[in-house]
Amino acid sequence: MKMSQSSEITLDHKELVDLLRMAYSAEKAASFAYQGHAASVNNVEEKAAIRQIELDEWNHRAEVLAIMKQYNIPVSKWYEFRFYVIGKTISMSCHFIGWFMPFYFAGKLESGNVCEYFRMMQYFHSLGILEYNTILYEMGMKEKEHEIYFLSKIKNKKLLPFFEKLFAWGSAKSLNDVDLEQKYPIESSALYCKKNED
Ligand SMILES: [Fe+2]
Ligand SMILES: [Fe+2]
Repeated sequence: MKMSQSSEITLDHKELVDLLRMAYSAEKAASFAYQGHAASVNNVEEKAAIRQIELDEWNHRAEVLAIMKQYNIPVSKWYEFRFYVIGKTISMSCHFIGWFMPFYFAGKLESGNVCEYFRMMQYFHSLGILEYNTILYEMGMKEKEHEIYFLSKIKNKKLLPFFEKLFAWGSAKSLNDVDLEQKYPIESSALYCKKNED
């Protein structure tokens, strides 16, 4: 019988490990960005909604870290630095670029984040690991809710058709195939985001 000397459990999937490390750091960037975004809007309801989304992102970061710890995956110092700079830069820029753009680009970013969690689920499944289905499903769906919130704020704005054409996200274009009105059950949710794969 082969016994490992070390008790370390590792995750033998390069893309998955990298995706986890990146998501962990990118969630911090998102939280920072939403701090600036919330501070830059005057409307009290918008401020509260964005603050809640910031908290959701901190929560995602904690959940991703919990998974990383189970496999002894170290936090990437490079990603932490890179996403610190990105998050703080976006946070500051929210004060100078008007009302529309922070909502637009937040929505586009969230749209892309949805598939990160379903792709993680697919990667885990390729290793026969099903235990994170629920948490990954919840995080993916939460990002979708964020996307829909930001879209709801801008969908009637005159600038949207122009931005949608330019940046390929908006009322008619999403970066994922999740429909909140008709969700797949958790067990089938690895079917999401198949066509978004690189
Ligand atoms: Fe998130
Ligand atoms: Fe989000």
